Amino acid sequence: MKYAVIYSSKTGNTKKVAEAIHRVMPEGTGIYPVDEAPEAGQVEIPILGFWVDRGLPDEKMKSYIKKLKDKKRVGLFATLGAYPDSKHAVETMERSKGLFEKNCRIFATFICQGRIDPVLTEKFKKLPADHPHAMTPERIARHEAAKKHPDALDLANAQEVFQKAVKYICEEGEDSNDCEYSA
Ligand SMILES: Cc1cc2nc3c(=O)[nH]c(=O)nc-3n(C[C@H](O)[C@H](O)[C@H](O)COP(=O)(O)O)c2cc1C
Repeated sequence: MKYAVIYSSKTGNTKKVAEAIHRVMPEGTGIYPVDEAPEAGQVEIPILGFWVDRGLPDEKMKSYIKKLKDKKRVGLFATLGAYPDSKHAVETMERSKGLFEKNCRIFATFICQGRIDPVLTEKFKKLPADHPHAMTPERIARHEAAKKHPDALDLANAQEVFQKAVKYICEEGEDSNDCEYSA
């Protein structure tokens, strides 16, 4: 199989983005939760989606990534509680790219906010004020904002990134000196 969208999602946010991307992928593209992902050798260009766990892909996706060492091209997308243009989001994506070999080209990336599990929000609310994760008004606002995501615009943006990137691969061929698409 040429492309497969493979995602890890605990509460459904990343799954929504995965399904949106899959809808605009070329015919024959598979979509799999990471638990049911095909063997690495069966997919030429994996498009991997994960939820951010402490600044990295979640454990399940991290384990799957370890099996993809020899891939020449990979797409990455993620959902997280932080704002997508925050330092944390940018650094998380950079760290995630760093899990791949140097010669693996990350041909497209996308990251957006995703509703934070209310259990986690409630846990944070109970932390003492001097705790590094204590809920400040800014954090409360961010958790509130995250509740609306991924929204229709996030899904459309994710589709645009991957559609453009895949079109470029088709037109320019596999070994072109391509750039990374992101939003
Ligand atoms: C245990 C845990 C750790 C998390 N760590 C982070 C984090 O480091 N940074 C962040 O921005 N969001 C973090 N989040 C928020 C999730 O990444 C976010 O809500 C994501 O959209 C969940 O995706 P899912 O619905 O596909 O599981 C964390 C959530 C949980 C439950």
